[in-house]
Amino acid sequence: MYVCICHAVPDTEIRSCIARGARSVEEVGDACGAGTGCGSCHDHIDVILATANAPADLATLPATA
Ligand code: FES
Repeated sequence: MYVCICHAVPDTEIRSCIARGARSVEEVGDACGAGTGCGSCHDHIDVILATANAPADLATLPATA
């Protein structure tokens, strides 16, 4: 599914950018161009970033009893 229409970038390419180290909308844009046009896809890219990083983020939380 295309996330960024301006640059025809699908969600799979954005996930690939994240897997290669992109950690922000700006870094995704630097890696594949997504989000560097009209900007209307930024919220969707943010959701993909949050979803992709969620397991790592949860792993950094302190354990509770
Ligand atoms: S839809 Fe992504 S920059 Fe326009």
